[in-house]
Amino acid sequence: MKIHIINGPNLNILGKREPEIYGKSTFKDYFSELQFEFKDIELSYFQSNSEGEIISELQEADDNVDGIILNAAAYTHTSVAIGDAIKAIETPVIEVHISNTHAREEFRKHSYVSPNAFGIIIGFGLRSYELAVRSFLD
Ligand code: DQA
Repeated sequence: MKIHIINGPNLNILGKREPEIYGKSTFKDYFSELQFEFKDIELSYFQSNSEGEIISELQEADDNVDGIILNAAAYTHTSVAIGDAIKAIETPVIEVHISNTHAREEFRKHSYVSPNAFGIIIGFGLRSYELAVRSFLD
C-alpha cells in the first residue's frame, strides 16, 4: 500500500513554529518514526508553501498512490481550488490537523477540504497522521 502525505504552508517549520500548539518535533523526525512504525507501507511526504504546488501534487498523486493524507494548513480555510482538486481526483483523501481547529479562532472552523474528504482527523497532535495511516489500513 502506498500512502502519500501532503503538508501545506508553514508545516516545514514544525518544531520551532508555535511549539505550544504544534509541538517540538520537526516533521522530518516524526516522518521517520512513522516509517519505522509502518514498515510494510510505502509512505512518502511532500510539503509546499504554495497553493498551486499542493494542487499539482494532489493531481499527480492520484495516479500513483492508494491514499492521501492532507494537512492543507491555512489553505484549508481559504482554498476553493484545493477543495475542487480533491473532488476531481479518485484517490481517497484524509484531512488531518495537528491542533483542534474547532477550539481556536472562528475562521479555522470552516474547511474547504472537509466536504470532499474521505475522513477527517483533527486535534491529536502529530499523532493525527498516525491515526490517518491506521484508518487507511482498516
Ligand atoms: C493546522 C491548523 C490550521 O488552522 C493552521 O493554519 C495550520 C496548521 C493544524 O495542523 O493544526 O497551519 O492545519
